[in-house]
Parts: sequence; structure tokens; C-alpha cells
Amino acid sequence: METERKKLYSAIQPTNNLTIGNYLGAIKNWVNLQSEYDCYYGIANMHAITVRQEPVKLRQKTLSLLALYIACGIDPEKCVLYLQSHVSAHAELAWVLNTITYVGEMERMTQFKDKSARHADNINMGLMDYPVLMAADILLYQADVVPVGEDQRQHLEITRNIAQRFNNAFSPTFTVPEGVYMKVGAKINDLQFPDKKMSKSAENPNGSIFLTDDRDTIIRKFKRAVTDSGSEIRYNPAEKPGVSNLLSIYSVFSDKTVAEAEADFAGKGYGDFKLAVGEVVADKLGPIQSEQVRLEADRQYLDGVLKSGAEKAARLANKTLAKVYKKIGFYQI
Ligand code: TRP
Repeated sequence: METERKKLYSAIQPTNNLTIGNYLGAIKNWVNLQSEYDCYYGIANMHAITVRQEPVKLRQKTLSLLALYIACGIDPEKCVLYLQSHVSAHAELAWVLNTITYVGEMERMTQFKDKSARHADNINMGLMDYPVLMAADILLYQADVVPVGEDQRQHLEITRNIAQRFNNAFSPTFTVPEGVYMKVGAKINDLQFPDKKMSKSAENPNGSIFLTDDRDTIIRKFKRAVTDSGSEIRYNPAEKPGVSNLLSIYSVFSDKTVAEAEADFAGKGYGDFKLAVGEVVADKLGPIQSEQVRLEADRQYLDGVLKSGAEKAARLANKTLAKVYKKIGFYQI
């Protein structure tokens, strides 16, 4: 029987180290979503090269992201896990979509403007075209829903516009996807500057917990985390941003509510509190990290996952691409 399940698409670039914010905001949710949707999870290496990458590192990070996905609980038997460059339809559909996308709209994209400012010596066409490639990713799989971070909202909106534009100009072809903007745990702040979001590229690495940090590093960073004046362990982001951030990290990593977290530390001091938060995070990440290391060493297994992922992805992607080529008048033999 054909399943009636809705389709879900998302992807991560194999670039920087991921933080616990990325884990909670993205991968952890993806794991929960895989039983509900037909999930397509990509590793966006074609997006990655829109800023300069070292080839050797890009290759390593690709495998390590794949291993991480699986170590976190994404099941390659249940969902389609694949590398973007393995499915040529992405580049091909992006080319077609380029012809119905305007230069002006791309120039107005916030992320393009930010990245152009940060990489002023390399404002390449790919950087500008990034949202069109992302639209191609999503539309190839006729995705109904796309879970992403708040920073991708504009890209999702333009994807919807492009889909509607194509459907109107030719005939209904693409599902117009809904963005799902993740909230739970997505708002983890920097340990040193608790009014700023925890970022994978923060200047001070002590403010971010990376998924690759070992136990000692995690505990050390939490010990050094900025707390607030006073000594009460109470959730109040406006008055106590440092303590509140630590409480929310503790609550998600221990699957407790914030109120339960507060109760755990009633009458305790900041020192014990910070140590406990560090331990709960290290306890959770430890097994994921050792599984990731084990998988990274099993090249044959990872290659197999990528091969079957690419085959499954290409089947649907090529079907959509063939439809598009037909509608726009590309002669087919
Ligand atoms: N641009 C996304 C990010 O940096 C990654 C991405 C690429 C993506 N293609 C996608 C996300 C398609 C969702 C759907 O986070």
C-alpha cells in the first residue's frame, strides 16, 4: 500500500561544528518527526561551497555530519538520508527555477546581505543563488513541511513564491511547502553572553557547547558560565538571563519542565547548579559522541547509507524534474 504520510524535507550544511542549540533545534526534532512523516534529510554540500571550503575538510565534515545524524537517532531505514551532490536533479532544477526568479529578490535576502558583508572578497553567484538551490531541494521532493530555524524563514517564503509562480505560469506541479519554525530548545543562549543566541561561529568558544566537546570541556565551560547577581536559581529571562538559560538547557537535557528544574536546585548555590547542568549535558552527549566515532570509522557502512539514500532520493527527484522539463517545453526522447 502506498502510504498517505506527508513529506518532510530538511537539510544541514556540513560546515561548522554544531552546537547543542543546533542539536536541540534541529536534529532532535528530526528524530521525533521521522515516525510521522516521510522524511528526506539532506547534507547540503552544494550550499556549503557558496563560501570557501577546504576540500579535505569538506569531505571529512560530510561523513562526520552523516555519522552524527545516525548517532542522534535518525534511522536511514526509515528516512532518506543523502548527500545533495549525489542527486544531480538539484542543480538541474535550480537552473530552471533561476529563470523565474528575479535578481532583485535575491539581492534583498537578509542572509545574502549578511554573508556578502562577511565575505566581501567572495560575493559569488552561488551565494546569491543559494535560496534558489534551496527551493530546488525542497520542491524536488514535493515536501509538505520543512522544519527549519527562524533564520531560514525568508528562504522558505521565497521557496513558496517560486513554487506558486511556476504553478501559475505552467500548471500545478509543485506542492507549496509550509515552514515549521522550531521553538523548543531552539532558543539556547551563549554561556558568556546570555542575551545572545548560542552560535557555532561565536568569537568566544567558551560561550558555545559544541557537539564535539568532550566531557571535561563541557563541564569546564558550564563552570565558567556567566550567572547573575543574587544567588537564587529562578527562571526569569529578563532579570536573570544567565541562570534562566542554564535552567532551560538543564530542563531540555533532562526532559524536565523548567519548574521541576527550579525545584531540583532550590536552596543550592550557583557552583553546584552549574556543575549539575554540565553533567546532564555531558551525560546526554557522551553516548552520541562515541556512537558517532564508531560510525565514522565504518566507512563501508556510511557509503552504503549514502548510496541507498541517493538512489531513493533520485527516484522522486527525477520524477519531479521530468515533469518540469515537460511543462517548460524541453523536448524529451
Ligand atoms: N540553508 C539551510 C541552513 O543553512 C540548509 C538547507 C539547505 C536547507 N537546503 C535546505 C534547509 C532545504 C531546509 C530545506 O540551515
